[in-house]
Amino acid sequence: MDSKTVAKYDSDAESFIADWMSQPPVMLRRLIINNFTPKSKILDIGSGSGRDVAWMTEAQFNAEGVDASKGLLSAARLKYPHAVFRYDTLPALANTLSAAYDHALCSAVLMHLPRGEIPAAVANIVRVVACGGKIICSVRPSRELTEREADDRLFTDINLDDLAAMFRANSCNVLDAQSTFAAGTDRIWHTLVLEKISS
Ligand SMILES: C[S@@+](CC[C@H](N)C(=O)[O-])C[C@H]1O[C@@H](n2cnc3c(N)ncnc32)[C@H](O)[C@@H]1O
Repeated sequence: MDSKTVAKYDSDAESFIADWMSQPPVMLRRLIINNFTPKSKILDIGSGSGRDVAWMTEAQFNAEGVDASKGLLSAARLKYPHAVFRYDTLPALANTLSAAYDHALCSAVLMHLPRGEIPAAVANIVRVVACGGKIICSVRPSRELTEREADDRLFTDINLDDLAAMFRANSCNVLDAQSTFAAGTDRIWHTLVLEKISS
């Protein structure tokens, strides 16, 4: 875990939430509907504002979130009091049992980890999903010349092929891999859809 990144989310939770609430993730929602089984149990890893847990709950999924930022967890619990938001952190996901979820979402989180922690984080994302489950994972590169942006958040540069190889090494098939620009912006996002094929 990168403590400077988490500290930034803790201290500026409200302004990050306002920003995220103004940008519903249209493409991710389409991927969720197309890949996650209706009514299934889903873990949103790095759930932030809780926006996606709330949306998945409305869409009849049984979703809950974990996050490393206690500030964001408090805000999400206040905003969505009927949803479950737990403290847990990548890379270990030590508070989450193996195979406890049908599917997992990990949107815009892995790039916040130091490079050396990413393989273990991938292994633990796969670990908490049941065999046959799908995982949707997105990352973005830094928008500045360095991996640590001016606001102190870490954006480790992750190559989509390398990330796909890490999931393959953890018993996953890659169902979809795409690099796309967020609607109306020059901001690129790399997204994988994976299926866990064995334990
Ligand atoms: C860019 S936000 C994305 C939030 C949400 N998934 C979304 O797509 O709007 C990154 C989130 O990852 C969380 N995070 C950062 N490092 C983490 C770690 N090591 N373990 C778990 N969550 C982490 C942050 O607290 C924050 O909520």
